[in-house]
Amino acid sequence: MNIPDIIIAIDGYSSTGKSSFAKLLARKLGFLYLDSGALYRGVTLFAQEERLINKLNQVSPELKGALAELHLEFGSDGRLFMGPRCIEQQIRAMEVSAQVSPIAAVPYVREWVDSQLREYGRKGRIVMDGRDIGTAVFPNAQLKIFMTASEEVRARRRYDELVAKGETPLLEEVVQNLRERDYIDSHRETNPLRRAADAFELDNSELSFEEELAWVVGLIQGKFGIL
Ligand code: DC
Repeated sequence: MNIPDIIIAIDGYSSTGKSSFAKLLARKLGFLYLDSGALYRGVTLFAQEERLINKLNQVSPELKGALAELHLEFGSDGRLFMGPRCIEQQIRAMEVSAQVSPIAAVPYVREWVDSQLREYGRKGRIVMDGRDIGTAVFPNAQLKIFMTASEEVRARRRYDELVAKGETPLLEEVVQNLRERDYIDSHRETNPLRRAADAFELDNSELSFEEELAWVVGLIQGKFGIL
């Protein structure tokens, strides 16, 4: 497909399959894929290692100054690095998942992440997924998709992901974590998760990757007049 240098913003609740879908779409279009949640997870890991967040999810005000020392960067294969260290595996663990939403609710953390994300998006040709990409990070993105799926399907996906990584989660814990994160993500004051008015909704509870891809390709063809 000969497609213009656009930004595609994909938002939605946790474990709706945003990143798998966004990766697939980026590959199909020859675009760069960027997982904005990875940066929030990277900041969370940093705060944990520097002891700037406690077990009650209270964030130390010192985090603000400490962010100046934090260098997070995506490798060419999309894995996240903290300085020279690849942290991809650590940021996906349950301990990080359990504390990422309170960290992502801190306004200066969001500003820090947003400025990095906008830098990556300067040249377009990017598919970015997250919670506020179409509403706050790139409100002018030329294509916005809002993804949903039933809670049951989402919990099962997250559970299978964790098991595949060798973790031994309890399904109830996974459901609890999803609910908590959805609640915090959609109720925080700064840029809460919500569907942009001009976003297309994709409920993928019962769709295969092929069906999702066919849906979005049809959308792109219609919207940009590409045959
Ligand atoms: O997509 P994810 O589960 O890796 O995201 C991790 C957390 O980061 C999630 O709880 C919400 C937050 N997040 C956000 O607030 N805004 C984004 N654009 C992306 C993620």
